[in-house]
Amino acid sequence: MLEAAVQHLQSRAARRPAVAVVLGSGLGGFAGELDGRIEIPYAEIPGWPCPAVAGHAGQLVLGRLGNLDVAILAGRVHLYEGWTAAQAAFGVRVLGKLGVRTVVFTNAAGGINTDYARGSLVLIRDHINLQGANPLAGAHDESLGPRFPDMSEAYPERLRGIAREVAAGLGIRLPEGVYAAVLGPSFETPAEIRFLRTIGADLVGMSTVPEVIAANQMGLQVLAISCVTNMAAGLQSGKLSHQEVLETGEAVRGALIRYLKALLPRLES
Ligand code: HPA
Repeated sequence: MLEAAVQHLQSRAARRPAVAVVLGSGLGGFAGELDGRIEIPYAEIPGWPCPAVAGHAGQLVLGRLGNLDVAILAGRVHLYEGWTAAQAAFGVRVLGKLGVRTVVFTNAAGGINTDYARGSLVLIRDHINLQGANPLAGAHDESLGPRFPDMSEAYPERLRGIAREVAAGLGIRLPEGVYAAVLGPSFETPAEIRFLRTIGADLVGMSTVPEVIAANQMGLQVLAISCVTNMAAGLQSGKLSHQEVLETGEAVRGALIRYLKALLPRLES
């Protein structure tokens, strides 16, 4: 399945991306920054799972940022849509096989740490997988890496250091936090948020972790940034809604684009 997708992409684009960016809910737009863009709808790539949620466009964009070859995954699939963790990781695995060495993930998340505010960008330092699923479960494919990959530095300090430096240079505040991945799609209860805080989570979201696990297995360098689209249940007045998630994503998009433009060239030097 992976091989068919890899071959398809090799046949459609001569250049090979070195860095990939995965754009989360409402965080699209960065793809417009690439020169010499080739846009490939997921539906045209063999085996590629297609997202169905509003706010996820669903295409792979290949192009260049200066001298750097970049792949952007605009839209991802989620476990709450019924996809498996391996399907959620499919795109990252294909890009890894295409030669990508570094993946920058973005996502929308609820803020648990009260130092954050709606609209904050947070660098993920570590995660807690509460999705009850792992993309590596099932038959082992040796071509992807070890059966039991180490996850003790899933978000390497070296890249986080660069990420902090670039943020400081732009005057963007970029605290670090631990991301708890839940299945969704219902938002959490206030009791669940208190539990998540107790176990060490600063952020909660419904994505990213399956992809990060698959990327680590392949030996790819990972960086992940959450956009706090809302404070988590019980920490803000009013009800949580997907609409709020999309609206905050939209509001932060400009800052995120500026940041990614400055960040990506630094990751491959
Ligand atoms: N909870 C879980 N996932 C989310 C949230 C949230 O509050 N906001 C954005 N994604």
